[in-house]
Amino acid sequence: MVAAKIKFALIGCGYWGANFLRVLAGSPLVTLVAVCDTDADRRAAMHAQYPHITFTGDISDVTSDMGIQAAVICTPVETHLPLTELLLRSGKHVLCEKPLTGTADGCLYLYDLAQQMQRCLMVGHVFEYNSVINYMQRMIAADEIGPLRYLQFTRMGLGPVRRDVSVIFDLAAHDVAIALSIAGAMPLSVTATGQSFQSSGLEDVAFIQLTLPGGVIASINVSWLDPIKQRLVKIVGRDKMLLFDDLSLGEKLKIVEMGQNYQDPKGDFGSFQLSVKDGQIIIPNLQYPESLVTELEHFAECIHSGSAPRTDGRYAHRVVRVLEAAQESIRQDGKKILIT
Ligand SMILES: NC(=O)c1ccc[n+]([C@@H]2O[C@H](COP(=O)([O-])OP(=O)(O)OC[C@H]3O[C@@H](n4cnc5c(N)ncnc54)[C@H](O)[C@@H]3O)[C@@H](O)[C@H]2O)c1
Repeated sequence: MVAAKIKFALIGCGYWGANFLRVLAGSPLVTLVAVCDTDADRRAAMHAQYPHITFTGDISDVTSDMGIQAAVICTPVETHLPLTELLLRSGKHVLCEKPLTGTADGCLYLYDLAQQMQRCLMVGHVFEYNSVINYMQRMIAADEIGPLRYLQFTRMGLGPVRRDVSVIFDLAAHDVAIALSIAGAMPLSVTATGQSFQSSGLEDVAFIQLTLPGGVIASINVSWLDPIKQRLVKIVGRDKMLLFDDLSLGEKLKIVEMGQNYQDPKGDFGSFQLSVKDGQIIIPNLQYPESLVTELEHFAECIHSGSAPRTDGRYAHRVVRVLEAAQESIRQDGKKILIT
């Protein structure tokens, strides 16, 4: 039997919300009935593109509409907690953008509230629904790259600069989520340095290090001030290295084999260069479905089945705990913060 379409509202149709608007409006699984945004100019611009959808600046038009079953929240982070609470309490299932809130306690509060209201609360940690990350997760689970050595993340470029959260809560939220998911564990400790060069008091550059169980290290570099846009994830195992370049159009994942042919360098520098280049580089022929579509499909499936989403409030809580620890380390001049 074909499941009935779920009636949705979208809260916030700014830069990222415009992507949700396109995906929701085109999805066969949902009917987008309303979009709420407090900015009248933004509403007008989006309404011109989607004239059949109702646009409003008043959230009570959504909360009081008993026909609306679910809402996507795509507003600034500082609004996530009050909006998620309001929508859950009005009986809606909620998909809230990452990070769920600015505090770990806030995440747990919303997780408990969703349980109490018997509503699905999912967080938009989009890389958990990314085909390349999923492929790498399967390789690691099948022990194809050998024990993990280190993970390295580079997420840099020019803005967009946020006014309500630092680059840690904005960009590093992605990499912390990927690191925890790949390692399958919380870090033992976090150290970080960072700077706020744009006088807002919120870091726009940060270098974060996680010490994971088994001696695995994760290094996360994030910046809104970098002239070169980069979105790189490197996973180095004993036998293989995985390189995910999200900006590459057709060759997003490269698998570098280094196990059986690797030899310690002997002789001159030339032979050293040869030895480290040894090993195949494989570019798997992957499909790249839009992660946001896969994320929305998972949310719809969880609403229908009543099962817990992969990125639920507890997942979001683990991510925010690490982000808070990074922020605390910066506040204490790079002190190692233990995660207990
Ligand atoms: N998953 C990703 O890759 C990704 C990428 C970018 C942004 N994001 C997340 O998406 C969220 C929004 O980011 P953005 O870049 O679209 O920001 P934005 O500032 O471009 O858009 C936010 C929109 O929300 C509206 N808004 C603010 N308060 C509101 C309220 N109380 N009710 C209704 N509308 C309100 C604003 O008018 C604006 O149009 C953030 O949480 C951000 O972390 C995720």
